[in-house]
Amino acid sequence: MKPKVYITRRIPDEIIAKIETVCDIRMWDKTDIPVPREVLEKEIAGVDGLFCLLTETVDRGLLEKAPQLKIISNMAVGYNNIDIEAAKEKGITVTNTPGVLTETTADLTFALLMATARRLIESSDYLREGSWKTWSPMQLTGQDIYGATLGIIGMGRIGASLAKRAKGFDMNVLYYNRSRKLSLEEDLNMTFVEFDFLLKESDFVCIMTPYTPETQDLIGARELSLMKKTSILINTARGGIVNEDDLYSALKSGEIWAAGLDVFEQEPISLDHPLLTLPNVVAVPHIGSASIKTRMKMADLAAENLVLAINEQTPKHVVV
Ligand code: DGY
Repeated sequence: MKPKVYITRRIPDEIIAKIETVCDIRMWDKTDIPVPREVLEKEIAGVDGLFCLLTETVDRGLLEKAPQLKIISNMAVGYNNIDIEAAKEKGITVTNTPGVLTETTADLTFALLMATARRLIESSDYLREGSWKTWSPMQLTGQDIYGATLGIIGMGRIGASLAKRAKGFDMNVLYYNRSRKLSLEEDLNMTFVEFDFLLKESDFVCIMTPYTPETQDLIGARELSLMKKTSILINTARGGIVNEDDLYSALKSGEIWAAGLDVFEQEPISLDHPLLTLPNVVAVPHIGSASIKTRMKMADLAAENLVLAINEQTPKHVVV
């Protein structure tokens, strides 16, 4: 009898076929609706492996219902949706998909930075709604990117790739990280600074750190008050790293100039969320890694991790 695996969303057929060579599969066969909790609780009861997304909360309660479970393969680099301690206690391997989404996520981060600085969405709406009557000296003016100071909080793979892109724009790159990355500093021409110094000096502050209990609400009223009035906050990491009430107040009062957000405390963000009423917010629906090639690579790597663990081999990327 083949081991049993549950897949929490419709994934591409070739990836399903790969898993099916070694496992019996059941799958939540929808593309745009997450598996309901009660369905997941039933399905997980008899399986050896779980292929899941960041939309599934894999907490202790769920794991209690999965006596056979050996592997949770998360199709994401972030794994804040999984109770890692509980998995570890139960001897369940957890894997993720780092590396394959680095460049695509850095691209989106830089795109969001540019769109926010140069008010691209607002300008496009302005044209489409018929407000464009003439060229005017200060119409829709934004902030310069070329030669500006970029502050990166979190110098992992994606942070380093963002710094590479900044080089082409002759930006002055500052970074803050738990540990100094001396080997990268020279290559990427960037400077390690204290956290508050980065907030005070940067024209752009980009959050590139994982979401953990330590980074929850890392950016709140105090941090926003340190930033320049002309500065822009970009978050493509996780919504909970920024306190959204404080961000709203800072944007509304002009304490900071704008924000580009790919991630939110609650996803999808509610359409009546105050942040969405502000013209100086560019908001996109968690699309950091959303290129066709990268999403295929993430699915493929998640499948490979799953199959390796099921076959009692070491997966490529083990969290615990
Ligand atoms: C991740 O992988 O953690 C991203 O947020 C989605 O690609």
